[in-house]
Order: sequence, then structure tokens, then C-alpha cells
Amino acid sequence: MLPRCAVQVCHVLLLVLCMSAAEDFDWTKNDRSSSFYYGTFPAGFSWGAGSSAYQTEGAWDKDGKGLSIWDVFSHKQGRVQRNDTGDSSGEGYYKVKDDVSLMNELKLNHYRFSISWPRLIPTGIKFDHVNEKGIKYYNDLIDHLLENKITPIVTLYHWDLPQVLQEKYGGWQNVSIVNHFNEFANLCFEKFGDRVKYWITFNNPWSVAVEGYETGEHAPGLKMRGTGAYRTAHNIIKAHAKVWHTYDTQWRGKQKGLVGISLSGDWGEPVDINNQKDIEAAERYVQFYLGWFATPIFHGDYPQVMKDYIGKKSAQQGLGTSRLPSFSSQEKSYIKGTSDFLGIGHFTTRYITQKNYPASRSGASFFTDRDLAELVDPRWPDPGSEWLYSVPWGFRRLLNFVKAQYGNPMLYVTENGVSEKMTCTELCDDWRIKYYRDYINEMLKAIKDGVNVRGYTAWSLLDKFEWDEGYSERFGLYYVDFSNKNKPRYPKASVQYYKRIISSNGFPNQREVENWKRRATETCSSSNQLLAADPLTSHMEMVTEIVVPTVCTLCILLSAVFLMFLLRRQN
Ligand code: NOJ
Repeated sequence: MLPRCAVQVCHVLLLVLCMSAAEDFDWTKNDRSSSFYYGTFPAGFSWGAGSSAYQTEGAWDKDGKGLSIWDVFSHKQGRVQRNDTGDSSGEGYYKVKDDVSLMNELKLNHYRFSISWPRLIPTGIKFDHVNEKGIKYYNDLIDHLLENKITPIVTLYHWDLPQVLQEKYGGWQNVSIVNHFNEFANLCFEKFGDRVKYWITFNNPWSVAVEGYETGEHAPGLKMRGTGAYRTAHNIIKAHAKVWHTYDTQWRGKQKGLVGISLSGDWGEPVDINNQKDIEAAERYVQFYLGWFATPIFHGDYPQVMKDYIGKKSAQQGLGTSRLPSFSSQEKSYIKGTSDFLGIGHFTTRYITQKNYPASRSGASFFTDRDLAELVDPRWPDPGSEWLYSVPWGFRRLLNFVKAQYGNPMLYVTENGVSEKMTCTELCDDWRIKYYRDYINEMLKAIKDGVNVRGYTAWSLLDKFEWDEGYSERFGLYYVDFSNKNKPRYPKASVQYYKRIISSNGFPNQREVENWKRRATETCSSSNQLLAADPLTSHMEMVTEIVVPTVCTLCILLSAVFLMFLLRRQN
């Protein structure tokens, strides 16, 4: 366990970092705090936890898997914190049974995971080769989940594009990828669709577009400012629609499943709720985030505000056409209505104010196109990732926004959770307990507001590779000791807390809920001691696995030599 003073130093450092990253703001005039709501979720509400292939599986080059853009990106020096890679991560590939037993411990109703495209189709092109061992791995995982009455919710694309497709065609920049993705999805429906009934085409395409092709912080690391993200998003939306139609026409009849997409969105709250410019800027923030993908899928075209702003800026930059591509009318009607449910990934909130960026050709970017500034309240808790402030009330607002904008679709929360820094080795994660308690409570309020939320996925089941942050940020309910080659898992206190929310289907009454935190943290100090003893355990394992056999072999050899020597002397 880290001493309290070290935790405080972490906090101060983080606060300084975060404050330097964002402008300051007078929060005292805008207190959004509200009271706790006791009550339960509708019967049948589905509780789950999530993961993704590259973040957890490891086995990056095993059993015929092809390279993904994340394998290549993380192997380049300087792209990921401390040059960490997902090569072995938590070895989830080899730990299906162990991990499903953790899910059982939590009594999860569903588990959300993703399929690695290059594990199934090494080059990404189905015609080249299909890897049977990859199919077997996912078959085993799905079967094992179902045997344990855990519903699989399967994502087809959680960022690990086959490297060959990036090299040959430019990845998501090239429309030809739509067909390759559709063939991959079709293969998944064919092989797994008899048992998988919830499909998510893409996870958080905003990140793929902006961080992969605009800022280059994520694989494939391209910095095509002002154009890369828009072109990527355009092809992703087309690919999503095509896959939905494939399922709808070829599989839905017999398999009776659902196909959706998982979109991420921070909430944007106007700095001054009486200032029309701030109100519009905050709405723009959400439209350039969630609306960018949700509006075409639910209404057939990009949000008007995106078309206006990017169009206007492009014209000021002397461009003949907008940097935001457009859909033909045929494409619009093909795309509209292609989500049976909407997945929402949500972690945090920003205050937003209007800010004009002069249009210059060299300064074109997704960020300046929005004409706004993001602010944070320094009082918001921020235990882990620099960008992740705990602002529960933003969640309720976002869910209500989705209800109002897209006709109250069926929603699954596909990601929600909070991290801690790697150095803060602490299984008594009271800040995570508080985060889950308050965010889940805001979701309950949203359901009372009439939002159609059907399930919730805690992010994430295990600590894992956190993209460009490597292993420096931990989102898991279970701690993974990455320094031990067996990658043992230890429950954090939040496991016990989340388990109680699940078994009570919410927050039944004050007296009961108040006990939960105390009971959840009762066992964590002994788990902390186990964890602290871990280096010793792995040392002893090394002794038994390497030193003991080596010494034994040497003894046998020496005895044999000695025996031969004795025999010779007798002769
Ligand atoms: C969203 C991504 O989908 C997920 O992979 C990641 O772990 C979380 N954000 C936290 O950064």
C-alpha cells in the first residue's frame, strides 16, 4: 500500500498538471451538486463489465495471429508511456476460465469483449486466410460465458486494425476498407452468431478518427490535421451501416440478435447557463463528439452545426469544398436507422465556453473547427487519468440529451469507470467506489427521467494496457500484477461494492447502502498484504521452477559421474 502522503503528492501533482492543461473557472457560481436517490433498477436490467482484445489478451504473435496497427505502433520507441506494449498484457488469451470465474464472483449478467480482427483474419482480407485457432479461442470464450449464464456482448472493432490494411490501403482513410470490414463481420456472424445476440460494430469511433488520424497519439499515429479525422469517420459510418444491413438481410431472421454501435461522449456544460453563446458552444461540443456519429445513424446526416462550422472554416481557408465529406442522398437513407441499440461510453464532463479561432489553412484542425474552449473545475476529483474528472451529474445530462435527440433509443452503457495511477498500488480504492456509486446513481435518475437504459458495463473488469498511457493507468475492478509472469488478479474493494449494487439491483435504502462501503473495504487491507507479498511469492516460484530443477539435474549428473568413476576403479 502506498503511504497516504505519497497519494497526496500524486493528487497535488495531478492537479497541477490538469490545471495547466485547462483554463481556470469560477465554479462557485455553478454548483451542480444534487442529492442521492434511493431506488432500484427495472427488473431485467443487465449488469456487466468490459474489456477489449488488444488491451487484455496478450499473445500478440501466437497461434497464427496477424499484426495489428497497435502491435506495430507500440513497438515503435516513444509512442507509448515507458514504451509499454500489449504483447502479453494480462495474458487474457490464456486465462478464459480464471477470468470467467471473476465474473461469476461479481454475478455479472453480461461481459463485453472485442474480437481481434487480425487474430481471425491475419491480413484483414478474408480471401487471404482465416485463422482457425483464432476462431477456436473466441468459440471457447463464448461457450464458457454461456455455460456460466453470462451474456456475451461482442465488439467487432476496438481499434486493432490489421496492419496490412493500414500499409496497403491507408486503413480507414480508404473507402475500400468498408468491404473488408463487412467480410470480417460476416465471418463473425457466421461463426459466432448462433450464440452471440448483441453485436457492437465499432467502439468509440471518435478516438479512432481524432487520435488515430488527426493528432496521431494513437495507432496508426497519423497527423492529418483538419481532414484525417473527418475522412476516417466518414468511412467508419459507411462500414457500420453496411454491417448492420448485412446482419439485417442475411442473419437476423435466424439468429434474432441486435446490432448497434458504441459511441463515447463527454458531457459539455455551458460555463454560464445564462449566456446564449456558451449554451451554443456546449451543444457544439457534444455534437462534434457524440452527434458526429449518432446523427447520421439516427437521422441520416451529420449535425447541421458541424456542416455549418466546418463548411464556413473551409471556405475561409480558401478551399473549394468543405473538409467535412458529404453523404449522397442514397447513402443518407442507407445509413439512417442502422442501430438496434446505442452503446454509450461515458467517463467525464467539461465546462464549455465560446472561443473563436481564426481560420488559417495551416491551423486547420478538428479542435479549432469547433470554436470553443474546455474548462475544468479544480475541485472535481481526478484520481487517475489526466483527462478524467469525476462529475456524476454530467452523466444524467448526457443520457437525457441522447433521449431527446435520437428518439429515446434502447441504450446500453458500454463503458463507465475510473482509473488510478500505476504507482498508487492500492486495493482499497474508495475513490472508485464513490465514482461508481454516484455515476450509477445518476444513471438511475436518468431512468426515472424516462431514458431507456437497459444495461450498464463497468469499465473495466481488469487492469490492462491503457493505449498510449501503457500500464501507467489502471481502470480495473481487479488489480493485475503485471510484474509477475503469472499475471495474478487481486480484487479491489470496488469489486465488493459493485457486487452489492448488482445483487440489490440498485440502491434499495439508505441504511443498507451506508454499510456497503465499510464492508467492501473490510477485506481490502488483507488483500493489500497479499499483493505486497507478491514479489516474494514470485521469487519463490522462480526458486521452485528454475533453481530447484537445475540443482537436481546437477546432482544427478554428478552422481552418475561419481558412479562411473567407482565402477572403473573396481574394474
Ligand atoms: C475508451 C476506450 O474505449 C477504452 O478502451 C479505454 O480503456 C477507456 N476509454 C479509458 O481510457
